[in-house]
Amino acid sequence: MKNNIVLIGFMGVGKGSVARAVVECSEHVGIDTDDLIESMSNTKIKEIFAKKGEPYFRDLEKKVATWLESSVDDTLVSTGGGFFKVPNIKKIGIIIHLDSPFDDIYKRIKEHPNAQRKLKKRPLFQDITKAKELYKQRSAQYKKCADITIDVTNKSVEKIAKELLKKVKEYKGKK
Ligand code: S3P
Repeated sequence: MKNNIVLIGFMGVGKGSVARAVVECSEHVGIDTDDLIESMSNTKIKEIFAKKGEPYFRDLEKKVATWLESSVDDTLVSTGGGFFKVPNIKKIGIIIHLDSPFDDIYKRIKEHPNAQRKLKKRPLFQDITKAKELYKQRSAQYKKCADITIDVTNKSVEKIAKELLKKVKEYKGKK
């Protein structure tokens, strides 16, 4: 089993912020699958969806997943909200699902100082009804895929980071 920690969860739940907090209080190096895709293709996610379509983006996610499995270890990997569907996800590392109700996620985005930018860069968060439907579809799938689920509602990123590291340690101890 690889020693990576993989963060999955819905758009806007705070995977990136939690990843940064974990990196700050541990020895982990952090990478993000959306960042990798943007640098691989020299194109923003929003543009990839607009110009090439979602299936093309999903293929790029699979490419990144293959590389993570073959070449990356001891790393904290934050992912895009649909990345958990890559076929080899379980081979990349321990899977941590950051969980929160849809309304709290939406509130968290809206209250952010850069709310407009945060919403604009996410093609699948343009229509709230559709985003909520996607959340409903994926909610159980995230839980099923994850080794550990953490409820992040109303918790600071520092608190979540500590809880995450503690749970990962316990999980590894049991294995
Ligand atoms: C997506 C989530 C996005 C990004 C892309 C698709 C999804 O990442 O990968 O827009 O399918 O949920 P975030 O979860 O960081 O918003």
